[in-house]
This record gives sequence, C-alpha cells and structure tokens, in this order.
Amino acid sequence: MPLSRRTFLGGLGSALTLSACSHIPRFSLESSAESGYDYILTAAPTPIELIPGTTTPAWCFNESFPSPTIFAKQGQEIKILFRNRLSEPTTIHWHGLRIKNEMDGVPFLTQPPIQPGEDFLYRFTPPDAGTFWYHPHVNSLTQLGKGLVGAIVVAEAEPVTFDTDLPLLLKNWHINEDGSFAPFTSPRNAFRMGTPGAWESVNGVQNPEYEVAPGALVRLRFLNVDNTVMYKITAPAHAAWIIAIDGNPIEKPTPLTQHEIGPGMRLDVAIQAPTKAGERIAIKNAKGRLLFDLLSLKTAGEAIAQPQAISPLPLNPISAPDLDNAETLNFVFEWEGAITPTNTSGKANHKFWTINRRAWEGMSAENIPAPLADLQLGKTYIFRLKNVTPHSHPIHMHGFTWTVLRSNQKKIVPYHTDTVLLQKNEMVEVAFVADNPGHWMYHCHVIEHMKTGLMGYITVK
Ligand code: C2O
Ligand code: CU
Ligand code: CU
Repeated sequence: MPLSRRTFLGGLGSALTLSACSHIPRFSLESSAESGYDYILTAAPTPIELIPGTTTPAWCFNESFPSPTIFAKQGQEIKILFRNRLSEPTTIHWHGLRIKNEMDGVPFLTQPPIQPGEDFLYRFTPPDAGTFWYHPHVNSLTQLGKGLVGAIVVAEAEPVTFDTDLPLLLKNWHINEDGSFAPFTSPRNAFRMGTPGAWESVNGVQNPEYEVAPGALVRLRFLNVDNTVMYKITAPAHAAWIIAIDGNPIEKPTPLTQHEIGPGMRLDVAIQAPTKAGERIAIKNAKGRLLFDLLSLKTAGEAIAQPQAISPLPLNPISAPDLDNAETLNFVFEWEGAITPTNTSGKANHKFWTINRRAWEGMSAENIPAPLADLQLGKTYIFRLKNVTPHSHPIHMHGFTWTVLRSNQKKIVPYHTDTVLLQKNEMVEVAFVADNPGHWMYHCHVIEHMKTGLMGYITVK
C-alpha cells in the first residue's frame, strides 16, 4: 500500500506548520489532460496516520486525507471519472451543486449503485460559484465516517482574487487512542443529537497553523463534513467577514461574530492578515461559553505590496422565487423515540424520526417510497419546515438552492442555502423555483438521523 501524504507528514506531529499553498493538492495525482478527464477520483481503503504514531484504517479518495480538492469553474463542464475500489457499492453526490438529476449520485433514485471494481463517469456544469463538497450516498455512516469526504471549489466566472484561499474540512473522527475506529453510531445517540467522534480535526490535523503573507487577503472556506457535530466558528481577536453562506455569496460582507454550521454546511470568511510578520490569528470553535482551538494563521515571508480590501463576491444566478404565486407546503420533522431503545447491537436500525409522520429508513431497490411531494416544473414553492423535536437538524435539499425567508426564532436577512439548520422547535420558511426536473433527496444531514428515518425526496416534473 503506498504511503499517503498524511502518513508521510503525520510523523512530524501536529505542531507542523503548513504552507498554505503547498498543502492543498491542486489537482488529483492522476489527473492529466490526455486522459480526457479533469479528475480521476478513486475510493479505496487507505491506512493513514491521524494520531501521530498510530494507524487508522481509513477509506480515502486517491489514497490521501485530505481528499483532493476539486477545482471547477462556474459555467464550465467538468468530467470526473470515479473508480470504486472499495469492497462495497457506492455513489458520489456533489453537495450543493445544482446539476442534472442523473449526475446527483443517489443510489436507485438517480443511478444504480456503482459496484466494487466499477467506474462511473460524472460530468456536469456547475451553475454557481462557491464552496461545495462531495461524498458517497451509500452506507453513509461508514463511508463518510471513514474519510470519504472532500471539497469542491467552483471558481467565479468573473475572476475574484485572494492572496490565499484555504478549504478547511472540519471533521471529528470516530477513533480510539490507538487510531482504530470507534462505533459510528449507537441507538441511544441516534435518537438524540448523534454520536460525536472524539478526535477533532481540520484537514486531518489538530489545530493546524497556516502561513500567510503579511497583508494577505485570505479566504477561509469552512466545510462541515462531519457526520454529527455542529461547529460555531469565531475569530475572537481579529476582524473577519462572512462573504458566503453554504456556498452562496451574501450581498454585503458582514462581520463574523459566531456562526454555527451543522453537518453539510459551509461558511466562507475573508480576513485581512496583519501587515507585520510573526502575527497570529486564532480561529476558534465556540461551545457554550468556552472557545476551543480550530486553527490559526501566522504571517510570514514577504509582505503583500498593496493589500486588497474585502469586497462582496458576485452573486449566483439563482432564480428569484415568485412569492405572489407560490404554493406553501408544510413539512413537520418529528420524533418517535420517546423511550430508550432496547436494541444494543449498535446498528442504526430504528425509526426514530419522521417527516410528515413518515420514516424512510434504509435505501434499497425494494425500499423506495412515494415522494414527499410532487412539484410542478417552473413553479415557486414555499416550504414551511417545522422542527417539533428537542434537537437541531440541518435539513438539506438536493438540486436546488433555497431562499430563506423567515424564522419564528430569529430575524432573517434573506439568504441562499442548500441546508438550513433548524434549532429545536424552530419553524423556518424557505422558497425556491422548482426549475430542475427529477427526484431530489431531502434529508437531515446528521447522518444518524437520516439513517433512522429523517429522509425523503421530492419529485419535480
Ligand atoms: Cu450532502 Cu444527500 O447530501
Ligand atoms: Cu446534497
Ligand atoms: Cu437531524
């Protein structure tokens, strides 16, 4: 088994300083113009070193963690040859990208599962620029839990420049002190907030430090690729600006105080680095009143001659919902697990959660229910999402970008997203134009919730 990049670097320990540009692989190792593909992405078991001195039997893309970041361009077709070298079927889903249904990577609903040893060509044209991600949609607890998660950066059609641009994969690995995997789920946790992994990491490292040039304009792309946990991002001692939420630019950069992202969600933050060398900016994760280290930036090297100001990103071409003629549909997210389950097998085989009183648990050719709703192509819909459980749920919609209109708990400045974090007992209204035909998954991105019922789909035709 070839050494992964992480195995190789891991021996230096976690205090390692990573140069911002050399650390993130720009292209897949196997990408080449002659192959006719932009990327070749291979999923396979790969031992990696997360905790220094230990081995974790991970599953990786292209034998490394972090996985290769896929760089695409807004409005340009990209071809990715996916090769399944796992011992079980899988598919790849391109989270947040509004692409054709047959490329959405959902087993049975949009394509047959890709069998071990098989290849599948994904080709699509991303209409929106921003921060997105990719992951399997089969046996998700295990496949995502073992490391099959990666970033997609779609560059703006009109060029936007940052001196440093850093995708940051946030993940709490379910590993023990010896590097072996711990259980990804337990029934007790699945009907509460899920099973958190014990080993927190950013790009597979604990509290990494990235060097940036003094005066650099830095874009941090936070991606919550975790199965379970929420991150509340904050830069307590330095000015930072939110420029995009869940991949989609906001009209005016707003100061970052604390911003919470649930599994599946993203946040783009712009920071102007201090103009002196040797300064450090700490980025933290807020839990209650306590702040925990996530990563830091350190100024080093030659200063940027003319530091750039922070400006808004160009907006994505999302159709404006026609609210006057919209139809409103209610979706109630409910909880069935009132008593502690007795099954202790450790398998998520319970129906704890329902959408409109229905649980969908386990995907197979024989187990595809009717859609939660049939929508008419081209029409505007308002989804009233009602969480009547005492837990929070990042509710995700495939194939569309919602406009968030209002909440019964907080003031909303309308923004675009593919995933809404519903707090306990919260009601949120989102609107969108049903402009993309097909069957589209609609589920909670806390994987244990999804696996125990909180999952459905809608059909647009
Ligand atoms: Cu990242 Cu079905 O989602
Ligand atoms: Cu998705
Ligand atoms: Cu949930």
